[in-house]
Amino acid sequence: MDWIKVALAPELGNDEVKMVNVAGCGVALYRVEDEFFATDAMCTHGKAVLAEGFVEDGCIECPLHQGRFDIRSGKAMCAPVTVDLRTHTVKREGDDIYVLSPRSK
Ligand code: FES
Repeated sequence: MDWIKVALAPELGNDEVKMVNVAGCGVALYRVEDEFFATDAMCTHGKAVLAEGFVEDGCIECPLHQGRFDIRSGKAMCAPVTVDLRTHTVKREGDDIYVLSPRSK
């Protein structure tokens, strides 16, 4: 298992998202209700960076066409998005936030 340290917990407030680098892959890291989650960085509908989107009610809204995905499951929630986002496994040790490298799955 290849855990990559991507952030410190205080870098993200609740309902915030940032782009992080996991072994050369862009990943969107979220903090929701004091838990951390990660998904692929790009919207499945077009070329939009989800870290530039808006987090609300456990969903990320794409900045380009306002499609929404559930942050925990990656599920596409409303048009125009129809393809779910891939999620990534996250763990927290103290203030250190790690994402499991997609290459170690
Ligand atoms: Fe994200 Fe179209 S690019 S909804």
